[in-house]
Amino acid sequence: MATATATQYQAVQKGGPFTVVSIPKPCPGPNEVSIRLKAIALNPLDWKKLYFGFMIESWPAVLGIDGAGIVEDVGQGVNNFKAGDEVFSLFGHDSRASSFQEVSVVPEMFVAKKPRNLSFEEAASLPICYCTAGAAIYSALKIPLPFLPDGATTGPQPKSVLVLGGSSGVGAAAIQILRLALPTAAILTTSSPQHHAHLTSLGASRGFDQKSPSLVADIKSATPDAKGVDMIVDAVASGASQTNIYDTLSADGPKEVGEVFSGTQIQVPEGVKRTVAFGRQVFEPPGGKNAMTALAGLLSEGRYKLPNRVQSVGSRFEAIAKGLEVLKGGISGTKLVVTV
Ligand SMILES: NC(=O)c1ccc[n+]([C@@H]2O[C@H](COP(=O)([O-])OP(=O)(O)OC[C@H]3O[C@@H](n4cnc5c(N)ncnc54)[C@H](OP(=O)(O)O)[C@@H]3O)[C@@H](O)[C@H]2O)c1
Repeated sequence: MATATATQYQAVQKGGPFTVVSIPKPCPGPNEVSIRLKAIALNPLDWKKLYFGFMIESWPAVLGIDGAGIVEDVGQGVNNFKAGDEVFSLFGHDSRASSFQEVSVVPEMFVAKKPRNLSFEEAASLPICYCTAGAAIYSALKIPLPFLPDGATTGPQPKSVLVLGGSSGVGAAAIQILRLALPTAAILTTSSPQHHAHLTSLGASRGFDQKSPSLVADIKSATPDAKGVDMIVDAVASGASQTNIYDTLSADGPKEVGEVFSGTQIQVPEGVKRTVAFGRQVFEPPGGKNAMTALAGLLSEGRYKLPNRVQSVGSRFEAIAKGLEVLKGGISGTKLVVTV
């Protein structure tokens, strides 16, 4: 009997090019799910891997950390999914678990049923930004997330939080997660002014132009007693170029920064506690194993919205290389996706 095959979109070497390769179709092991990809979202990590060799052990390599599709098969011990289910998922870093391919195999915990009201492309745009924002808030800043059932952690609960880079995928996710976690807190954010109305619709109290010369003073004056914010979520490594942004932290507060890992070296002033966050940390105990299922629930209930506009860069694997070029050049309030 002929072996079943599937195609992979492999980056041949650092910087590319890509090539389409046929491999034996992968099978899920215990507690794993194999997914036939219908849509893939592109992330800054993909181009950082491609052009800098970031986190790549050897070439050729398969990239891609976000996607949505149809369950192909399930491994032993998987009870929540069956072949044919429409799902969206976080994907992995090795060639078996990355999303730039026809069939990928991921841990069951990374997968959730796709809400009916979302297209595959919209669903694909969500996982890593939600997971990373969740990790910065829940794992780094120790703010309990009410939608992770056993997810209570302890720590000072902030009355105000500044999200740096609110219009980024991670930032727009962070605003929504913070609003769910801290219903009465002031959630301030920086972005270009064109995005402020959208970011307040997601739950921000107010947006600030990150290029304003009076940014720090403007942010402080919008906090209770103009003392400054209790905590910062840095979604876009703002602290590297805006070194005075830490002056927005209240001298009386915990002075904590949850910084999304970006590969950029950032120095914070003495007395400021900086914790770097990675998307997968959100799955850590106690509540994290439910993180993706919780996202599906929030979406179905309308309590979590698409953080950013979803823009297609084309269909078939060949659109990925072009899309990564666009992403590397810089995008604004947009998630790029490819239909497989
Ligand atoms: N550690 C992890 O697990 C993990 C996971 C995902 C992402 N990341 C990292 O997180 C970062 C964000 O990823 P992403 O996908 O959310 O990015 P993205 O959506 O591609 O980011 C683009 C946005 O960043 C905003 N921006 C850039 N510099 C800014 C600044 N100084 N102040 C305010 N806004 C600024 C831009 O805002 P305007 O257009 O409004 O100016 C733009 O909307 C990247 O470095 C990525 O590598 C890490």
